[in-house]
Amino acid sequence: MHRMNEQVKKKKIFECGKAFSPKAPVNTLQLFKGRREQLQKVLTSIAARGNHVVIFGDRGVGKTSLTNILKDAIEDDLDQVEVVKVNCNANDTFESVWRRILSEIMFATEYQDAEDDNEWKQVENPLSDWLQHYKTVGSGEIKNILKMKCSETYEIVIAIDEFDRLDQGERRMFADTIKELSDYSVNVTIIIIGVANDINVLIGEHRSIERCLTQVYMPPMTKSELKEIIDTALRILNMKIEQDAKEVIVSLSRGYPYYTHLLGYEASVRAVKLQSNTIQNQDIRTAIQESLKNAQASVRDDYNKAADGQRKGTRYPAILLACATADTDEYGYFKPPDVKYKPVVDEHGEGPEVDCSEYLNRLSTDVTRGLILERSGEARKYKYRFKNALIKPYIIIKGIKDGIVSNAALNNICENKVPPNVTKSMFGDYE
Ligand SMILES: Nc1ncnc2c1ncn2[C@@H]1O[C@H](COP(=O)(O)OP(=O)(O)OP(=O)(O)O)[C@@H](O)[C@H]1O
Ligand SMILES: [Mg+2]
Repeated sequence: MHRMNEQVKKKKIFECGKAFSPKAPVNTLQLFKGRREQLQKVLTSIAARGNHVVIFGDRGVGKTSLTNILKDAIEDDLDQVEVVKVNCNANDTFESVWRRILSEIMFATEYQDAEDDNEWKQVENPLSDWLQHYKTVGSGEIKNILKMKCSETYEIVIAIDEFDRLDQGERRMFADTIKELSDYSVNVTIIIIGVANDINVLIGEHRSIERCLTQVYMPPMTKSELKEIIDTALRILNMKIEQDAKEVIVSLSRGYPYYTHLLGYEASVRAVKLQSNTIQNQDIRTAIQESLKNAQASVRDDYNKAADGQRKGTRYPAILLACATADTDEYGYFKPPDVKYKPVVDEHGEGPEVDCSEYLNRLSTDVTRGLILERSGEARKYKYRFKNALIKPYIIIKGIKDGIVSNAALNNICENKVPPNVTKSMFGDYE
């Protein structure tokens, strides 16, 4: 890259923020990577009459992004499919959510011109106008209103995001609506999206709709999917990255695309500032520091609370780190023996393991620590998991920055892809 003036640099940094977007879900097919199996499942359900969908998984795993690109991914004649998307919030009710959905669907009616009997005019109103004809709004009323617009050849896809924010009673009514729409074979596909590891948590008892509900679990992304995110962004930016730097970003992301975007953004901005066309291994160090500053405020707060804030010398940061790197089952649960907490280690990262059950209990029951872990199972057989899995990469990145990740552990996390100059010694804050 030739010497850039400030204006050009600013423009390039702006472009970095578009190619890597940690703050926003993806909304174009070009930037949407991987997830082929999940996307296929959703598209198949849309095509099948009477089928509805639940998309669920950890926070920040890419649920909204998948929903955003559906419209572009539907290959059928778009004139025949209308996609409506709404977000729920904690104050919403069944009715308020439907009011929002229906207000986005326009319905044309014809009326005879007052002056000329032969003249028919058309007027478009939102379907929500029909709500006023009903005293109460339940699944039957919603079905009737939707039937006005849908037909054999016209389908409406309704995506309801942040569904976990609704009260349980309200959620139950959506399950009833799905049953009703399915029983009457209305040409509508409801897609429910929410944070959950288990769909029972999201929609409660759902045996009556099990047959018509396609469950799409969004697991953390694979390494090759995360690499595709970096490759695509850099292609857009016309930049390159050293192989090891790419591996480190992918390893630290632990399957969460949010961190791939965050670290990718900070690393590319660093390279641009150095007038380089290639993200180099040493840019990762800056990316780590900057990404900690710019990580989601809620994640930072949760960490500080659990780790004893800024107090030095407590064991919690190291224990959280051991939890974040513990082997888990498919739902993210680990047991106390999985937590390899070694307070004193040699240069190979080896040392005696110390039992930390007591700390795990406090992290899951002591409110003053913010309940970063959730506990399940019976006494003495407890298992734990992070309430918000998105915090795991943060804990690791923070551990690297603070120098509490041993070189051996870091090599392990990154499968020996850590460039020699990105090890612990680079992060001078160790104490
Ligand atoms: N398939 C993908 N390809 C590229 N980037 C992705 C993909 N999925 C998600 N991302 C990126 O990951 C981040 C989180 O994505 P998104 O907001 O879709 O997750 P979410 O599961 O809806 O999160 P939340 O639970 O907080 O609502 C965003 O920066 C988004 O750009
Ligand atoms: Mg989302």
